[in-house]
Amino acid sequence: MTESTADSESESFSLTDDEIINSILDILARTAPEIRNGLPGRRVKTNEENPSGESPMEADVFADELLRNRLGSLDGIGEYASEERSSADDTGSGLSVCIDPLDGSSNLKSNAAMGTIAAVYDAPLPARGSDLVAAAYVLYGATTTMIAAVEGNVADYVIYQDGSYEPIEQEVRVPSEPTVYGFGGRVPNWPRDFNSFVSDIESDTSMKLRYGGAMVGDVNQVLTYGGIFGYPALTNAPSGKLRVQFEGYPIGYIIECAGGASSDGSQSLLAVESNDIHDRTPVYVGTPSLVERLEGALAGKADSE
Ligand code: F6P
Ligand code: MG
Repeated sequence: MTESTADSESESFSLTDDEIINSILDILARTAPEIRNGLPGRRVKTNEENPSGESPMEADVFADELLRNRLGSLDGIGEYASEERSSADDTGSGLSVCIDPLDGSSNLKSNAAMGTIAAVYDAPLPARGSDLVAAAYVLYGATTTMIAAVEGNVADYVIYQDGSYEPIEQEVRVPSEPTVYGFGGRVPNWPRDFNSFVSDIESDTSMKLRYGGAMVGDVNQVLTYGGIFGYPALTNAPSGKLRVQFEGYPIGYIIECAGGASSDGSQSLLAVESNDIHDRTPVYVGTPSLVERLEGALAGKADSE
């Protein structure tokens, strides 16, 4: 249990992990309408380059600064890292947070779904998947919602314009009957085994394509309807595109807490090794039977069904 002690005050106090996690969720919910309201006018690229070599949009930087200021000044947060910063900021002592401030921000111009992802680790960064104590994502869709995994349970909240939020589903579970699939990356760059797996999925008449280009939106389809999302290893990028600390671990954690499965192609995302905060990994999440089939296909095993 991480404790935060205010020694500058005459009266000392300490926060439990649960209290810190609740405060993080409060901040995510309070900040979400501000991020959303701040999007108009910030739909252009900056002249900067982020640690992944991409030019962030003004909205990415805006969301990152808001969250850095609020989460970084919360008692009980020791490190703040985001996709937009080359290294983690030291913000005191306590839990570490890794933030993807605006996941899917290439959807800004086309006005499609985007999100904010938060991973909370009880360890210094870069952390391991087993260090996660909570993870959440905000989805800026037709409504603003927040999925949060805390203590092994996943809940879905609606966030109102004033930053208040209330549960719409207390125990979210990945449906056992898969319905949807969505895979990122250019199809010509998909490895042969992955391509065969996708053909197999597409030959199943009960499966429908749902792909929107923002991981949180695509993952939320799978969480809602059952199925599989993947951003695979590519022939020209064997580690794929998504980041371990900001995307792979928290999304894997949320889906596993909801009874689904996650994989990097051969093992749970939570078992992936990561020595740098900007490491990448292939990401596959969804209904356990499909993730198992995917791992079999990538291992070169013929589909047993
Ligand atoms: O964070 C990276 C991201 O925006 C994800 O949300 C999304 O799944 C992926 O990139 C889409 O990548 P691409 O535009 O290469 O298909
Ligand atoms: Mg992202």
